[in-house]
Amino acid sequence: MTGRVKVAVLDSPKIPFLETGDPDIDSFFKSAWEEKLYCNNVTYILHLDEIPAGFASVSMKSLYVELPQGTKSYPALLLARLGVDKRFRGKHIFDGMRGGEYLLKYIVGLTQKVGERVGCRLVILDTDPGKLELYYRNFGFESSGPKGKKIGMYYDICETLCDT
Ligand SMILES: CC(C)(COP(=O)(O)OP(=O)(O)OC[C@H]1O[C@@H](n2cnc3c(N)ncnc32)[C@H](O)[C@@H]1OP(=O)(O)O)[C@@H](O)C(=O)NCCC(=O)NCCS
Repeated sequence: MTGRVKVAVLDSPKIPFLETGDPDIDSFFKSAWEEKLYCNNVTYILHLDEIPAGFASVSMKSLYVELPQGTKSYPALLLARLGVDKRFRGKHIFDGMRGGEYLLKYIVGLTQKVGERVGCRLVILDTDPGKLELYYRNFGFESSGPKGKKIGMYYDICETLCDT
């Protein structure tokens, strides 16, 4: 699959049509403008040839975790929701990457940029144990432990940068 890939911030109340098939993710996406308006979450939309194909919503948080520099609370960017439209799921959209992977890479890059101006070391998320946990683990996330029925995960952007 080839085409023009673009990620842009949701900057108007007009929510584009996009359906992941997951009720929680879809209902969150419908409220993405209110989330932005009240400074809770900013949503980034993935476009393929101008067609909305996925989204990632993020906010600031922190995570208490054991890292080589100590066990304490580290500043983090929370990936509150991630979704790819059913029509584009599992498709390699760019450079062998699927839509979710492309958005994850974008969010890691965003965290690095934010981290240059405001301390921010981790990307964190909560997911279901099992297949999705493995999906994030393959990307480079590690488990931070159970969170009710979910599992907390983190990606340390400083892991390589801190050694240089
Ligand atoms: C997760 C998601 C963003 C990944 O999109 P993608 O990069 O295009 O990749 P895929 O859809 O092929 O999914 C990657 C793998 O995760 C699995 N997967 C996706 N959603 C899943 C779910 N809700 N539960 C269990 N497994 C799931 C897929 O079967 C696939 O497995 P495979 O690699 O063995 O084929 C997309 O599948 C999605 O929007 N899912 C529904 C919403 C969701 O669950 N979001 C994540 C919340 S933490």
